[in-house]
This record gives sequence, structure tokens and C-alpha cells, in this order.
Amino acid sequence: MDLLAELKALEASFRAEIAACSDDHALTELRDRYLSRKRGLLSDKMRLLPQIDPAQRAVAGQRANELKRLIEEKLQERASEITASQRAAKPDLIDVTLPGIRPPRGFLHPITKTRREICRIFMQMGYSIEDGPELDTDYFNFEAANIPPDHPARDAQDSFYISEDTLLRTHTTPVQIHSMLRRKPPIRIIAPGRVFRRDATDATHTPMFFQVEGLVVGRGISFAHLRGTLQTFAHMMFGSDVKLRLRPSYFPFVEPGAEVDISCFLCKGRGCRVCKDSGWIEILGSGMVHPALFDRVGYDPTGLTGFAFGMGIDRITLLKYGIEDTRLFFENDLRFISQFGG
Ligand code: PHE
Repeated sequence: MDLLAELKALEASFRAEIAACSDDHALTELRDRYLSRKRGLLSDKMRLLPQIDPAQRAVAGQRANELKRLIEEKLQERASEITASQRAAKPDLIDVTLPGIRPPRGFLHPITKTRREICRIFMQMGYSIEDGPELDTDYFNFEAANIPPDHPARDAQDSFYISEDTLLRTHTTPVQIHSMLRRKPPIRIIAPGRVFRRDATDATHTPMFFQVEGLVVGRGISFAHLRGTLQTFAHMMFGSDVKLRLRPSYFPFVEPGAEVDISCFLCKGRGCRVCKDSGWIEILGSGMVHPALFDRVGYDPTGLTGFAFGMGIDRITLLKYGIEDTRLFFENDLRFISQFGG
């Protein structure tokens, strides 16, 4: 018995048969016919091994194993070919065994997240959200906000004028005037939105950025209310252990005016990169509404007071997340923007 010759013949017949297989079912049958443990043609040959001349046995055994591997390989190969040609014939065929393609998930821009957070905090304190135009008149942006014609903030360097009288608002303060004209005291609003300044772009300046304006007007509104409100806001936004510090400052539309710092929520006031080792971080401008504004909107100022504040949403976002360059917000690089979660 020449087992080697028989194996050779078996290989030849297998090759012929597999070429004729055109579906999975035929392949399964073919595999069975050659490799089935009990009835397989190759298994039959292998069973003969112990009976043959020991001198030939090692070589024949090796060949038989090689043939087995070859048969398995060819079966696999043919199976992939069949799948591929089936898919080509029916391109919309879905292979449910392939890993799924995850659709990219949407997420909020970090500035949007901060804006919503700020709005939520003030809404909890009973504020409503007010909107105002991004393109406004010189009157609302400056004049009515008590910014005199010779004030440096009016310099064409600082503002984008569309015409002699119209400009992109440089702050959200004009919304104070719009809402006082639209409403009657008591007023308790915040107004988030875009503002525009002709600043050179760098790590802390972009020509467009975001502010939130706050305005409260009523009888008996005092500076203590301003402080208490901002303290509550700072606790909710940055943590219950942050302290508040008010420094006297000048803004034409408030009197008195104050800049507000919080104790550094990162280093707890010990000094770090974010607070530039001072332990304090400036977060907003504020003050008591200047009576000239009441005058402009035709309110009777007797007994009427109010406070106002304005803060940069971009700046708060930079601080909160420890971001070093505000330009990142506007480059639309999803690798950056997607880091802030839904
Ligand atoms: N409008 C001021 C600014 O843009 C901020 C501010 C608002 C200050 C309200 C006081 C009161 O810097």
C-alpha cells in the first residue's frame, strides 16, 4: 500500500471538489467528507498509519497532517470568498457578526455648559432670562449706560461699528436698558449673550466672547443683596468653601462699583498657576445701578434702587476647567470640545 500516493490523490480530488463549491452548505458537506472523524476520507487514511512500514510511517504521518491543515485552510479561504461574492452580489447585506459602527455622539460646547449652569443657578434664585440684540445702537451700548462720548470704551479701536450709529455690542450692559424699558420694577433678570471687541487675539482675548449680565431693580435693594447674591452664586458655581472679596472699582453705569474676586478654588488660597499666586481670582464687575440709568428709562427714582453685575462666560469656563488658551473654544477641534461631556 502506497499511502503517500493515496494522500496525493486525495489532495487532488479535494482541490477539484472545493473549486466547485459555491455555498456554505456545500463547504460543510465537503469538510465532513474529508475530515469527519468517523467517516472522513482523510481520517480513513490516517487510521491506516499504524499498519504501514515503520520506515514510511513518519513521512506519511507528516504528509497526512499537512494535508489536513491544507484542507482546513482551503475551506476557510473558500468560505471567505463565498461570503465576499455574496456580499458583492447583494451590497446591502448586513453582516450582523461585524462589530458595529458607533455613530458619533453629540455634546455641548464647554461655554454652553457654563452658560446653562450659570442660568440654572440664577433661575433657582427667581431670575428670568432676558435676551437683547447683538447689533445695537450707540445709544443703548454707551449713552444710556452713562458712558460719556469721550470715554475710552467708545474708541473705534475697541468697537466694531457697522454704521455711524450701530455697532456690535461691546458688553451685555445695554440689555439692562432694553429690559427696563420692556418691564416695570421689580425686575430680576440675567442676560447671557455674545459681545464683541476689537482686541488683538491672544490666550485671553478673542474678538467675540460671552457675557452674562444680571440686573435687579426694586424698592429697598441694597449692596448687601448684591453681595449675598454673588456669594450664593460663587458657592453654587465653584464650591461652598470659596470666599468672596469685593474691591472698589469704576464702571460708568454703577455707583458704587466693585470688582469681585473669589478665593482660588484650586489651591484654596495658598497660591497657584490659576490665581497667579495671589490666592484670588477676579470673576466679575458689579455695583448699584447708577440713577442716571433710571432717568434714561423714565423710572421715578424715588426709593428705587438696583444692582447689576456682568461676567465673562469664557473666562469662568477657562477657570473652571483649567484651560490655558481661550482660542481653543473657537477652533472647533472636536478633540478639545468633546472633552467636557454632555
Ligand atoms: N459691562 C461691564 C464689562 O463689560 C461689566 C459690568 C456689568 C460691571 C454690570 C458692572 C455692572 O466689563
